[in-house]
Amino acid sequence: MRKKNIILIGFMGTGKTTVGTALAQTMQWPHVDTDHLIEEREGSILEIFHKHGEPYYRQIEARCIRQVTVGSQQIITTGGGSVLLPENRIALKQNGFVVLLTATPETIIRRVREDKNRPLLQGNLEERVHQLLRDRENAYKFADYTVDTTDLSVEQIVDVIVEQYNQVSLDEVL
Ligand code: S3P
Repeated sequence: MRKKNIILIGFMGTGKTTVGTALAQTMQWPHVDTDHLIEEREGSILEIFHKHGEPYYRQIEARCIRQVTVGSQQIITTGGGSVLLPENRIALKQNGFVVLLTATPETIIRRVREDKNRPLLQGNLEERVHQLLRDRENAYKFADYTVDTTDLSVEQIVDVIVEQYNQVSLDEVL
């Protein structure tokens, strides 16, 4: 059976949303971005964190993941911390081909520097990125496939993901 969704996970600034949009066009599947859905329902992520704190945000994020993973033939892109709760890791793994996007810390820092909407990166950016990468070192390891996006174009990343997805689907049939 073909894995029913393609799901992108990874640290902030690894390109999940950008790659997800391009991948959705190539696959001709809808792109569902969990952060985007949360913002539509609840307002800005920055405000949610400031008003209610991270645990509350994680609850809404978990609910959103439960809901979107019911569907199929979607490109699902997730927030960088969505992998922290075991229940999310299980839901993601059970409902799609999970692709981890990575990048070097320097690349991540360069990509996120101008965006002030990430509550967990406020303060000293370099320190925050290195600390969170250390804290989360093991949380992303459940992925089915990993792409280091540091030196690749969006098109190259999409190609490699589609190729792997097709390969995995073929292997399952044979
Ligand atoms: C977070 C990543 C963000 C967003 C929120 C928390 C995290 O998503 O969900 O700010 O904990 O890593 P992106 O990975 O899309 O930036």
